[in-house]
Amino acid sequence: MAATVGRICGARLLKNYGTVGPQVCQLSTNAQGWTKNRKMWLSTLGVVGGGVGALLFALEQSVKASGSEAHPPHQPWSHDGWYKSFDHASVRRGYEVYKQVCKACHSLQYIAFRNLVNVTHTEEEAKAEAAEVMIKDGPDEEGNYFERPGKLSDYLPSPYPNENAARAANNGAYPPDLSLICSGRKGGEDYIFALLTGYMDAPAGVILREGQNYNPYFPGGAISMAQVLFDEVSWL
Ligand SMILES: *[C@@H]1O[C@H](CO)[C@@H](O)[C@H](O)[C@H]1NC(C)=O
Repeated sequence: MAATVGRICGARLLKNYGTVGPQVCQLSTNAQGWTKNRKMWLSTLGVVGGGVGALLFALEQSVKASGSEAHPPHQPWSHDGWYKSFDHASVRRGYEVYKQVCKACHSLQYIAFRNLVNVTHTEEEAKAEAAEVMIKDGPDEEGNYFERPGKLSDYLPSPYPNENAARAANNGAYPPDLSLICSGRKGGEDYIFALLTGYMDAPAGVILREGQNYNPYFPGGAISMAQVLFDEVSWL
């Protein structure tokens, strides 16, 4: 990414320090090893370069089997290590990216607006964020449900009313809730980062169904989510 793009990941938000983009993905292989043919094939394409930025394209014939996905490289997050702290500017950008991009399909249903206070926003700003959305409330004294502006105690509204509606709108795929996605995926935020920046053309032999995309970090490689982040494209 040319500009650092912070990304939301539930309450933990991400920072991209590097220049890892779709074209330069350093993938490590968890496969049983390279075949001679594959090495040659890679050399022919000129993608075996020296150094850290080299593209190692790990694909086994068993790419569709679970466990064959590429291992996400570890990113130097500011919240790692002895002096853990979030990069608040990045975390805040992550929230904006969630709002403008991810939110169209992914809920954050276990996150309340109060959870934003002192994480992405000041209390006043979080109140203003909450007030931007209309929350269904009720029943009132006459038994009616009504809508009112959100408060800090309200949870972030979900893009779909339920899982069936979400699947119906997404070719049968269910965009997972992102509230706990970092703990829910092996590799945590490294996985999220690798996934978001790891889209590439499907290698020969991999058949994608209509609407599917290829991402070596996704188990099986065929992912319904389209690439949403692009190099040189700034959302903010
Ligand atoms: C947010 O930070 C301010 C200033 O440090 C503090 O007064 C306030 O109690 C904090 N609020 C929460 C919910 O942590």
